[in-house]
Amino acid sequence: MNFYCAGNWKMNMNAEAAATYVCQLLAQAPKAEAQQLLIFPPALIAWQVAELLKGSAISWGAQNCFGAEQGAFTGENSPRVLLDMGARFTLIGHSERRQIFAEPDTLLAQKLEGIQRIGLTPILCVGETLDDRRWNRTREVIVRQLRTAMKNADPKKPLWIAYEPVWAIGTGEVASPLQVEEAHEILRKALAEWNSAVAERTPILYGGSVKPDNAASLANLRNVNGFLIGGASLNVTEFLAIQANAQSARG
Ligand code: PGA
Repeated sequence: MNFYCAGNWKMNMNAEAAATYVCQLLAQAPKAEAQQLLIFPPALIAWQVAELLKGSAISWGAQNCFGAEQGAFTGENSPRVLLDMGARFTLIGHSERRQIFAEPDTLLAQKLEGIQRIGLTPILCVGETLDDRRWNRTREVIVRQLRTAMKNADPKKPLWIAYEPVWAIGTGEVASPLQVEEAHEILRKALAEWNSAVAERTPILYGGSVKPDNAASLANLRNVNGFLIGGASLNVTEFLAIQANAQSARG
């Protein structure tokens, strides 16, 4: 399986900064590995990013998206419009959506079903809080998040997973390789209980303070198929250094 590096810009950059960034990325990304790069700009500047990426192998997606094509859903992004704009992916259930915007697992199940039906690939984010980990609830929490959100998932349509321990996001505190591999294995097994073919082909990304200097040790892990990168993805040089270090660690 390929090794993917996905940059989650969160609510950063404006149209001008995005244009500079994408031009730099297009110029510097290694051609052979460009199709393993994904970027997730804020929806308001996605149009410009999409225009600049046209014809390149780099993919882009939304940070959040609803599960219906259109309708009375004030403030939401339509997966149909994103698809028309050239998006291939959308994150759903990022911990910031869960915590700041109170998105429950049941809503994510609805979104995931609709997003798959309309044709975007959802990247479902799951992860435990520091309390969950301290109380030994990591397995219970991530499996519950996965199963609930996948309640109506279609095994014939693509789905990606991102494991992002909440305590490691934006904190500089990265999960240890042991913690990451353990969680990814739990998720892979939970997927296999649902459908073994899906489990084998589903990329499971790790996210949480990935930087150039910790990329190699995490990229080496058996069940890690890529990274979801926040802070370090805002700088093209750092983003590409993560990809380069990951690729060389994997040989
Ligand atoms: P971080 O964010 O790399 O800044 O920790 C990761 C994420 O939230 O996807």
